[in-house]
Amino acid sequence: MSLYDVIPISVADYRLRARRRLPRFLFDYIEGGANDEDTMAANVSDFRGYRLTQRVMRDVDGVDTRTTLAGRAASMPVALAPVGMAGMFARRGEVQGARAARAAGIPFTTSTVGICPVEEVAAAINQPFWFQLYMLRDRDLILKLLERAQNAGCDTLAFTVDLPVAGLRLRDYRNGMLGGGLTGKLSQLAQIVTSPLWAVDVGLRGKPHNFGNLREVVPDPDDLNAYKSFIDSQFDPTVTWKDIAWLRSVWQGKILIKGVLEADDARAAVDNGADGVVVSNHGGRQLDGVASSISKLAGVAAAVGEQAEVYLDGGVRSGIDVVKAVALGARGVLIGRPWVYAMAGCGEDGVVDMLELFRREIATAMALMGVTSIDEITSDLIERA
Ligand code: FNR
Ligand code: LAC
Repeated sequence: MSLYDVIPISVADYRLRARRRLPRFLFDYIEGGANDEDTMAANVSDFRGYRLTQRVMRDVDGVDTRTTLAGRAASMPVALAPVGMAGMFARRGEVQGARAARAAGIPFTTSTVGICPVEEVAAAINQPFWFQLYMLRDRDLILKLLERAQNAGCDTLAFTVDLPVAGLRLRDYRNGMLGGGLTGKLSQLAQIVTSPLWAVDVGLRGKPHNFGNLREVVPDPDDLNAYKSFIDSQFDPTVTWKDIAWLRSVWQGKILIKGVLEADDARAAVDNGADGVVVSNHGGRQLDGVASSISKLAGVAAAVGEQAEVYLDGGVRSGIDVVKAVALGARGVLIGRPWVYAMAGCGEDGVVDMLELFRREIATAMALMGVTSIDEITSDLIERA
C-alpha cells in the first residue's frame, strides 16, 4: 500500500475510491458515456489542447478566487452539476453534495431525478441552491415541481435541453443495469453482494430509494428498467424555444439553459429570456461524436457573453481546467463526475476536500499566470497548443 491509497489528491484518486466501493453497474452508470464514448473522452483530452500563459514579476500576493455565479457570491468559479440518482451512489447523496457545496462556498444543483426531494435538500442546507429541470409531458406536474423547488429556496433553474431522448449508453446494457431480464437482475445482485460497504450504507441505510421530486409518478430506481421506460414515455421531446418563454413566465429566479453547444442556439436561448447558458454535451452521455464542450466554449462566449452568463461543463478535472474555461469566456464551470466520485468514495468530507484541491489549483495557477482576481483571467492568457 502506498500513501496514494490513503490520501486522494486528484479526481483520478477519488475515482479509484468510488470504483472500489460501488457495485459495477452503478460505477459504470456514472463513468460511462454514449456509444463509443468518443465525445466523453474528447471532453477531457481537448483541455490538453490549450496552453496557459505564464507571467512573472507581477506581485501576486493575495490571490482571490472569489466570484459571483448567477448573482450570488461563490468562493471560486465552480458549481456542482446536477446528477440524477445521486442518492444511489452515497447515502442521501443529494444532501451530502449540497452540504459539501455549502461548506466550500459554491452552488449545488439538484436534479429533477434526484433521490432526495428538494425539501430534504433545503432542510439540510437552509440556503438557496439550483434546481435542474427536465421537461415532462405533463405540464401540471412541472408547475407543481417548480413551485416545490421555489418554496424550497431554489433561486436558479438549470433547464436541461440536450436530453429530448436518452442517449445510448452501452455499458448500462453490458452490465445488467438496463435490459438483460432475469440474467441482468442476477448479475446486479452479484455485484451488490460483492460491494458490502455500499450494500449496507446505501442499499439498506440509504432508503427510501425513490425519486423524491417525482415520487407520485415514477417507479423506484430499484427497478431501473421501469425508470428508463418512464424517461422514454414522459420526457417531452416536443420542447422548443417557446417553452422557455413559458418557463420564464412561471419561474421567478434565474434561468440557465443547459446543454447548448452552438452559438445560434445560445443566441436563441438568450433571445427567449434565458439569463445564461451552460455549454455542455451532458458529459458525453448523449450524442456521441459531437464536439467537446471546451472546443465550443469560445464560440458561444463570443455570441452571448456580453448579455448572458456562459457556463461550461464536461471534462473539467482540475483547477487548471477551470482556469482554462474562464480564460475562454466562462463565468464558471459545473463539475459532474468528479463530485460523485469523491462522494461515493469518501463521502461528504471527500467532496469538501476535493473542492479545496480545486480551489488551491486555481489559486496556484492564477499566481503563476500573474493575476490576482478571476476578472483578470482573460483570453490573452490562453492559446492553442
Ligand atoms: C449527469 N448529468 C445530468 N444532467 C442533468 O441535467 N440532469 C441529470 O439528472 C443528470 N444526471 C447525470 C447523472 C450522471 C451519473 C452523470 C455523470 C451526469 C450531466 C451532468 O450534469 C454534467 O453535464 C456532466 O456530468 C458534465 O460532465 P463531467 O463533469 O461529468 O465530465
Ligand atoms: C443521465 C440523465 C439522468 O445523464 O441525465 O443519466
